[in-house]
Amino acid sequence: MKIDVLLGLQWGDEGKGKIVDVLTPNYNVIARFQGGPNAGHTLEFNHFKHVLHTIPSGIFREGTLNIIGNGVVMDPVIFKKEIDNLKKINVHLESTLFISKKAHLILPSHRILDAASEAHKGKTKIGSTLKGIGPTYMDKTGRNGLRVGDILNPNFIEKYNFLKQKHFDILKNYDFEYNISDYEKEWFEGIECIKSFQIIDSEIFINNLMLENQTILAEGAQGTLLDIDFGTYPFVTSSNTVTAGACTGLGVAPNRIGEVFGIFKAYCTRVGSGPFPTELFDNDGDKLTEIGHEYGATTGRRRRCGWLDLPALKYSVMINGVTQLIMTKADVLQHFDIFKVAIAYFIENTVVESLPYDIGIPIKPIYMEFEGWKTDISKIKSEDEFPKELKIYIDFIEKSIGVPITIVSVGPNREETVFRKK
Ligand code: GDP
Ligand code: IMO
Ligand code: MG
Repeated sequence: MKIDVLLGLQWGDEGKGKIVDVLTPNYNVIARFQGGPNAGHTLEFNHFKHVLHTIPSGIFREGTLNIIGNGVVMDPVIFKKEIDNLKKINVHLESTLFISKKAHLILPSHRILDAASEAHKGKTKIGSTLKGIGPTYMDKTGRNGLRVGDILNPNFIEKYNFLKQKHFDILKNYDFEYNISDYEKEWFEGIECIKSFQIIDSEIFINNLMLENQTILAEGAQGTLLDIDFGTYPFVTSSNTVTAGACTGLGVAPNRIGEVFGIFKAYCTRVGSGPFPTELFDNDGDKLTEIGHEYGATTGRRRRCGWLDLPALKYSVMINGVTQLIMTKADVLQHFDIFKVAIAYFIENTVVESLPYDIGIPIKPIYMEFEGWKTDISKIKSEDEFPKELKIYIDFIEKSIGVPITIVSVGPNREETVFRKK
């Protein structure tokens, strides 16, 4: 059995958590393959809202196994908080959550390095979530990192202190005050919490599950335009958020990838710094923010909003080999008489239809206007009930991209999801 992948096609927050939860009944296993607690994946059902950061979004469906893969970076403090919050609502994961020995650990000093680096950059800061993601992946590729498997070794404290000292030496180059002691205490409590879970060779586990014909969905974090290689560099995260990241982040061979679900919002958002050609600075932008409740699930920061960017979406579909598109937040557009989509860009008086190397230069999007449907679609259960203007929008995107939109999300709740006929 091949493994399916679900990932974001924009700058994150496309609604991955919601859709993974919706699709989980079709799968035996949900596996996170990259990123860490910079992610905030929101799930809503039964008048209940839950945000997950490290833990895969399959956990609320009984009988599903969940894996934190080798490509993920874990902060033990945040992980323990997530686990404690779940225990409060009677969700116990000791027998269903598996953690890769090869996942890297975010140390308290990684978080400090992240904060010091961002403060030092001043105006050019990335707008990082300050969870220590960048410094942790730097130590991974720099071959200095600590991994989950290391916590089982007798020399773990020695290794921890060695790396911490290395970070303190780097911090001498910054004019940055810090205090590590409180967080460090919680961090070691978090390490004990991780030890109460099944720490495994997840790549072998996953490949065996595939041999047993178990169905697996790989859950992406962030989005394609935040990918370290293909995103709007340097305003990106530090991992490969694309389909290829599922191969390296889980130990799955490329020829074992099945369906690739690419999620996009019916418009665009971005949180943090970096270029965003279709960003709106007018009433429409404010309206998208307020109606779409566009505030970060991890940091609470206001998300920047703009119209859908088709050249960028096409690029993301290409990089990921998307086989099915999922459009979320279609309900937010129901409040607009007219809305727009960028179909190309004007760059130095030339029409450019593809995403250029640098979108930080002056770019004027070329827009196509669409009529809004001005009717509540959040209770719709079948595509036959879609207003004609929504059908026109869906049809236009499918034809432009050449990939079917198989799911349309019309509200944050699990139930507010319309499956389209293939
Ligand atoms: P993720 O990081 O991709 O999982 O997305 P987030 O959870 O960070 O952000 C998506 C936000 O939109 C959350 O607050 C979801 O509850 C909400 N959401 C998801 N799908 C829809 C939808 O179709 N309509 C509306 N109105 N909200 C949605
Ligand atoms: P989910 O999985 C939206 C952004 C940050 C910043 C940049 C780098 O919820 O979609 P980092 O902390 O990774 O060094 O920050 O990436 N970012 C996200 N934006 N959703 C996310 O995750 C994000 N994770 C990181 O805002 O601009
Ligand atoms: Mg999010």
